[in-house]
Amino acid sequence: MDRIAIQGGAQLFGEIPISGAKNSAIKLMAASILTDQPLRLTNMPRLADTKFLGQLLRQFGITVTESDGPDGQQTLFDAKAITSTFAPYELVRQMRASFNVLGPLLARTGHARVSLPGGCTIGARPVDLHIDALSRLGASIELDEGYVSATAPKGLRGAEIVFPFVSVGATEHALLAAVLANGTTVLRNAAREPEIGDLARCLIAMGARIQGLDTDVLTIDGVTSLNGTDWSVIPDRIEMGSYAVAAAMAGGEVRLTHARADLIQALTDKMIQAGVEITPTDDGVIVRRDPARRLKAVDVTTEIYPGFATDLQAQFMALMTTAEGTSVIHETIFENRFMHAPELARLGADIAVHAGEARVNGVEVLHGAPVMATDLRASVSLVIAGLVAQGETTVGRVYHLDRGFERLEEKLGACGAQIRRIHGEDDSDGH
Ligand code: UD1
Repeated sequence: MDRIAIQGGAQLFGEIPISGAKNSAIKLMAASILTDQPLRLTNMPRLADTKFLGQLLRQFGITVTESDGPDGQQTLFDAKAITSTFAPYELVRQMRASFNVLGPLLARTGHARVSLPGGCTIGARPVDLHIDALSRLGASIELDEGYVSATAPKGLRGAEIVFPFVSVGATEHALLAAVLANGTTVLRNAAREPEIGDLARCLIAMGARIQGLDTDVLTIDGVTSLNGTDWSVIPDRIEMGSYAVAAAMAGGEVRLTHARADLIQALTDKMIQAGVEITPTDDGVIVRRDPARRLKAVDVTTEIYPGFATDLQAQFMALMTTAEGTSVIHETIFENRFMHAPELARLGADIAVHAGEARVNGVEVLHGAPVMATDLRASVSLVIAGLVAQGETTVGRVYHLDRGFERLEEKLGACGAQIRRIHGEDDSDGH
């Protein structure tokens, strides 16, 4: 397994291009199941997660072709014929979101058997809302030996679905199924994350009829078939936010491009309060910070979009480890999402975790040490802390990082970070 080594202390100056959003790309990939015509996705990130899902789609008989097109990285999906509707545990366990193939397989063919998911070990993360939504749409569902078998021989039918709480995955899953259902579906208390808007807009370009975009009520009039289209994946707001925090942590001046400032406003508002200079541009932001001036501690609470993203909580905690004062961080979306706190403590951070709250008492300096990535976003928080920790920090289990960050060492290295990948060393003992 690879590790990443960072020599702390270098300021960052330069430009970082932001990739297409992982969390949008993988849902758009699932949409390819819904049509027998080619779907071409551009601005596609090349990540472990998109690779996993590509493998799973091939299992269904879909042709998946990655190439460098006139608009950069693209992937062409051709689902002319679906030859299998079985998603085995070996493929689904690698990534939780691959469970979202169930709805589109069912909508297109009337049956599917999909393993229950794996994915990041943050909280319990069940899929009860997904299953309830598909049942409401008329699917018969059986659970056996870790598999979900669903059938709808006469097709799905429109229904009113009221989510008991907001779920990104369940909203997307219901949307992916309802577009081909017979009749009208209303999704209430739907998630409003920008990636859902991206998926809905792509589905509309494929011929779907959806109203209420970017609101918490989506109304879908089912159609009998969808067409192919070309679609450019929305910029990755979590990657953008991570590099914004990295620049603020290290100090210097970094321009984030191919992105959208509005997608990370909840984060940049907090960064400004902490003393970071943020300048929105036409295609991103410029982040400036004088490392001679200490940042101020700021409290954050994670919320559904447009609130502060849970996927940026670990990175913000890293930033607060050296701020002046105490920052109180509340995690409201996932239980057990502070696994990065003990790892940050190995670098000298002073963090007390109690239930869904972490109190970060800023320290003057961090010291490099071997640390271990525990999930995707936690792993990047360790890299961020490593940018200022004195001496060398090595981050183990970087396969977590590779799930969601494209060419991270290259992007940070181009701005002056002293960062390199150490290939193939076994870090299975953790530290
Ligand atoms: C998505 C994102 C993830 C992000 C999260 C919240 C993808 C691939 N992942 O995850 O990066 O952190 O949104 O913004 O897009 N829940 C249930 N039952 C369900 C579904 C969810 O209890 O059937 C719970 C979860 O355990 C969690 C909460 O609902 O506590 C929110 O989860 P959800 O919004 O569904 O997150 P994901 O779609 O898994």
